[in-house]
Amino acid sequence: MEFKIGLIRGDGIGPEIVGEAKKVLDTVCSKYGHAFTYTELLLGGASIDATGYPLTDETVEEAKTCDAVLMGSIGGDAKTSPWYQLPPSRRPEAGLLAIRKALNLFANLRPAYLYKELRDACPLKDEIIGEDGFNLIIVRELTGGLYFGARETKEVDGVMTAVDTLTYNENEIRRIAKRAFDIAMKRNRKVTSVDKANVLDSSRLWRKIAAEVAEEYPEVTLEHMLVDNCAMQLVRDPKQFDVVLTENMFGDILSDEASMVAGSIGMLSSASLNETKFGLYEPSHGSAPDIAGKNIANPIATILSAAMMLRYSLDMDREADAVEAAVQQVLSEGYRTADIWSEGMTKVSTSEMGSLIAERV
Ligand code: IPM
Ligand code: MG
Repeated sequence: MEFKIGLIRGDGIGPEIVGEAKKVLDTVCSKYGHAFTYTELLLGGASIDATGYPLTDETVEEAKTCDAVLMGSIGGDAKTSPWYQLPPSRRPEAGLLAIRKALNLFANLRPAYLYKELRDACPLKDEIIGEDGFNLIIVRELTGGLYFGARETKEVDGVMTAVDTLTYNENEIRRIAKRAFDIAMKRNRKVTSVDKANVLDSSRLWRKIAAEVAEEYPEVTLEHMLVDNCAMQLVRDPKQFDVVLTENMFGDILSDEASMVAGSIGMLSSASLNETKFGLYEPSHGSAPDIAGKNIANPIATILSAAMMLRYSLDMDREADAVEAAVQQVLSEGYRTADIWSEGMTKVSTSEMGSLIAERV
């Protein structure tokens, strides 16, 4: 089958890890007889360098012509990069938020599971991990809440004051809640809706709508959990979770925590979806400027994001299974990038890891 894929190589380690994911997709194409055409899209720091802006209309329009977009990571070192001398709305991260909004990518799926091969990389004790490890998915609302509310910094009565606003309407909550319940129906049929309903109005509405949506899914168990408790439960007993449904900022924070529990942030893939088949696929981690260009970053999160792209946007379950199995096989053969390396394992570079996975597809 023929598909058009947008490639956002991005900043920092982005170009390296996207290169490895493309290597894997090239193998998928030749093995399964598909033809992907690629179009390069600018976003973040790379876009600022080329155009002065972190996102241009050209990138948005071109992305809309694609079946899916695969992205590395964007951003630089806030202390040293000239990008951070620009006003906040012109910095790399603003471009990422803007493209999510422009493409209406409201549903961010971030699966976190512990490969049995990576038990040594998991900071939790054996008795907490248990026999089978854990397997959860965070469903994060991605185009609302605090990251998209009005914000301002100004002097009030001679005192510098900053305000950010957190708004959700019931429609925004309902559509992401439905997505979480649909996913739960294909998994273990449990949704944990995470909020701060003991303090925030937006969370009280969140809880009410989540409960309403649950009535349409009698086979799924809904539990509500306060976000501070959830942060604790993720390290106390991650096995209790199946689908974690939450708003934008809580999901941002909890997904970083979940990735570390799963061994390394270098393992966590993500899909950002709208109401259609289109999606933007990116690792959950950042651009790690400190290790950029050294060929040591872990490309697995990006490769697993490419597998999610095959599954969700291109309807290629068989091919996605093959990529995920190849990752599993490389890990069970003992190959590790530096972030997940432990005694007795074979340490490999970014490009070696990509090739090893591609060869096993
Ligand atoms: C993420 C990142 C972004 C976010 C930043 C870079 C704006 O942390 O994808 O989790 O907060 O969504
Ligand atoms: Mg984040």
